Amino acid sequence: MEPKFPERVPLAFLPTPVERLDRLSKHLGGPEIWIKRDDQTGLAMGGNKTRKLEFLGADALAQGADHLVTTGAPQSNHARQTAAAAARLGLGCSLVLRGQKPAAVTGNFLLDQLLGAHVYWSESHECNEAIGRVMADLRAIGRRPYLIPLGGSNVIGATGYVLAMRELLEQMAAEHLNFDFIVFASSSGGTQAGIVLGARAFGYRGGVLGISVDHPAEALKTQVAALATATATHLGLDALALAEAVVVNDDYLGEGYARVGENEREAIKLMAQLEGILLDPVYTGRAFGGLIDLIRWGAFTRGQRVLFWHTGGTAALPAFADRLL
Ligand SMILES: Cc1ncc(COP(=O)(O)O)c(C=O)c1O
Repeated sequence: MEPKFPERVPLAFLPTPVERLDRLSKHLGGPEIWIKRDDQTGLAMGGNKTRKLEFLGADALAQGADHLVTTGAPQSNHARQTAAAAARLGLGCSLVLRGQKPAAVTGNFLLDQLLGAHVYWSESHECNEAIGRVMADLRAIGRRPYLIPLGGSNVIGATGYVLAMRELLEQMAAEHLNFDFIVFASSSGGTQAGIVLGARAFGYRGGVLGISVDHPAEALKTQVAALATATATHLGLDALALAEAVVVNDDYLGEGYARVGENEREAIKLMAQLEGILLDPVYTGRAFGGLIDLIRWGAFTRGQRVLFWHTGGTAALPAFADRLL
């Protein structure tokens, strides 16, 4: 029986395209590389969070909320897409960004403000208190705030990627295509939890590999497995042995989160100059750099097909200009 999914508010252009990257595949001389363009979900420069926000936004409206509150890094793509979703749904938006307020108003930080969000700054270790204060202040003036966790990664947000996996399988069936591996950037775990659960629920038989952007593999695996299991329970899907399907590679953490190195620079330039597609410096550049390295090490064979799931983030590019060229 087809499971019943919660309501969503339409925010994304779906389905996102799936394309074959001929010039890049030829250049690397390994498997056939394909890409799924979730950088083209459409909401204020798109990205993976738009799929999550379709369900989080619907839940906020169902609860009678009039304001979205969330948190992220100074160049958070999630924060920018949340600001855009709030604007689209006629809700207010407050963002608690972690770290130092940057001197330059650029990238996502610029877009957050153009989209009408109120931006607050907090040191990482005080962030929860800062979020608590923003929520309390909003309630004190009669607003009804709805809190979205870091990365939109709870069972409601992850549902967006369960259905994204169904979308991909429908595209594969229509084109008589099969992918041996799906590879993407993983950080707060919601994308991977949804993909792993959707793969199980809708019968994808290939491998799913999350390339960690900022967490050690064991910690991220535990987080993704717990979220996939909780999401299965939330949706009434089979949660048995989901943890075994969670595969994370943490070989590409480099100098740390949002520190751009040669791995990211090479990946961004190769994708841009061979295919005319932009990656981002923090997530997809790092993950695609990891995929290039794995191909060079012979982790995939020539006859295989690998899908790189582009999760967006290109709005951050200008903020990293000095480290990209
Ligand atoms: C562009 C981009 N790719 C990938 C991710 C990782 O997604 P998740 O947090 O669901 O693991 C993020 C999260 O912020 C992102 O902005």
